[in-house]
Amino acid sequence: MLDANMALETNAQFIARRELAVPRGVASAAPIYAKYAENAELWDVEGNRYIDFVGGIGVLNTGHRHPKVIAAAKAQEDHYTHTSFQVVPYGPYIELAEKLNSLAPGDMPKKTLLVTTGAEAVENAVKIARAATGRPGVIAFTGGYHGRTLLTLGMTGKISPYKKDVGPFPSDIFRAPFPSPRDGITVEDAITGLENLFLTDAQPERVAAIIIEPVLGEGGYT
Ligand SMILES: Cc1ncc(COP(=O)(O)O)c(C=O)c1O
Repeated sequence: MLDANMALETNAQFIARRELAVPRGVASAAPIYAKYAENAELWDVEGNRYIDFVGGIGVLNTGHRHPKVIAAAKAQEDHYTHTSFQVVPYGPYIELAEKLNSLAPGDMPKKTLLVTTGAEAVENAVKIARAATGRPGVIAFTGGYHGRTLLTLGMTGKISPYKKDVGPFPSDIFRAPFPSPRDGITVEDAITGLENLFLTDAQPERVAAIIIEPVLGEGGYT
């Protein structure tokens, strides 16, 4: 029986309490609950030890609890945690933007806007492209993954699991085939697909952007 007061010691107890408290929509892939993690290893609440091949879906580039990351977070928390940069700005935002600008490829001048999620970054990129060009259209590719908000889902090129049952999606998003040896789509096929799109669905002078994300966490589907 599910009981909200059940002890929280074993993985099974966590799973049962979670069933009462957290909606099914947040699917969890692993049937274990994390207690501790260090570098590339993770221990569950029962003390079982695992090698973590996932790393928060490819976002823990320095592993779990890197001492420099922990020290920096603790030092920051001794000063302030959140002021909202739009209201009271702070120096580390600028320093991080400068660092990312120096790492991003290309010789052109660069600027960085920091947001909370990948989906928010993608949505802002589309909004900026639309505002800058005065055009609505966006071309995305088959097999691309762009996030789980409605606009990014509209651009995501695969139905299951994320797009299933939650449409309709925003308009003016067009899809072109992405070259994929696995699916037998050559570069020439992809270019022909793009040219066909301009003949059949997407009016070229009303297209603001073509979106390709070269750095993949979810991995894209292709
Ligand atoms: C290529 C790509 N775009 C967008 C996203 C969405 O990021 P978030 O889950 O932070 O919204 C992801 C997440 O895995 C991703 O891999």
